[in-house]
Amino acid sequence: MHAQPTGQTSAIEQILADVHRRTLGRRDGELADYIPELGKVAPDPYGIAIATLGGKLHCIGDVDVPFTIQSISKALTFCMALELLGREDVFARVGVEPSGDAFNAIEFDPVSRRPYNPMVNAGAITVAGMLRDALGGNAFEILLERFSLAAGRALELDEAVYRSEAASGHRNRAIGHLLLSVGALREPVDPVLDLYFRQCAIQVTARDLALIGATIANMGENPVSGTQVFDVDAVRDTLAVMFTCGMYDYSGNWAYDVGVPAKSGVGGGIIGVVNRQLGIGTFSPRLDAKGNSVRGVCGFRMLSDELGLHAFDPTNRGSALVDSFLAR
Ligand code: DON
Repeated sequence: MHAQPTGQTSAIEQILADVHRRTLGRRDGELADYIPELGKVAPDPYGIAIATLGGKLHCIGDVDVPFTIQSISKALTFCMALELLGREDVFARVGVEPSGDAFNAIEFDPVSRRPYNPMVNAGAITVAGMLRDALGGNAFEILLERFSLAAGRALELDEAVYRSEAASGHRNRAIGHLLLSVGALREPVDPVLDLYFRQCAIQVTARDLALIGATIANMGENPVSGTQVFDVDAVRDTLAVMFTCGMYDYSGNWAYDVGVPAKSGVGGGIIGVVNRQLGIGTFSPRLDAKGNSVRGVCGFRMLSDELGLHAFDPTNRGSALVDSFLAR
């Protein structure tokens, strides 16, 4: 169905407005002030954006407020590493097992001596090492261009947040040096950490996250520009790891309640991918104890219920809804 019935369009706008209104009152949680610059951001903005594979956007609230992508970048860099090096080489250096521990835990799988997965810091810094080795000194520019193609606009680095994390990221430096000690990284470590700090400080909006999500949902092709941004096979592997590990030590609960591959970042963003259907982006900077946006988690739970988006929803209500009026 290519035409868009007006009555049904307002139904999705209504669901978005209702979810936003019901979760807006959540003012609990804390800013990620372990990165000093993130402790200064305005805590109240809240936006939700949904992008369809037909290239339509449905938005509510502060969907154009910029924030840093932070750990959401880990999904995209993992996808790039898979493309560049192939899944076997990547798998040899980073696992795909949920760690059940905090994102910044200084740990490895004791048997394989690899980081547990690419969504926690140890795994993402290992992936940054692979990208730095494969792409050289221009790695950040190449990565930024790819993220921009997925979002459909030229993204930029937030210099202040980058500098703030580069100056204060001692825990990540410790992880980097531990990775060096077990052979997961090669000398020198500093350019790898610099790439990691930069990738985390790329500025996006909730609208961008929805479009990046829709690009992933669309087997790597940006549904608005038609550009093939990511390789199909790499997208499959990335979605699998987002589903099992994307929300850190909340990943099991998330899979149970929300049921869509997702990734959060301490900048307050969450990206969700409803495969072959939708990309969803939320932004609200106050975080729970696990580093996930409080309102974002609540909003996603409600949206998943309201739209029937859970991957194992027995009614497949979401697919029917999307086919009938969301996707086109
Ligand atoms: O490595 C860090 O601490 C940050 N640059 C990214 C962490 C992050 O976003 C974790 N997400 N919830």
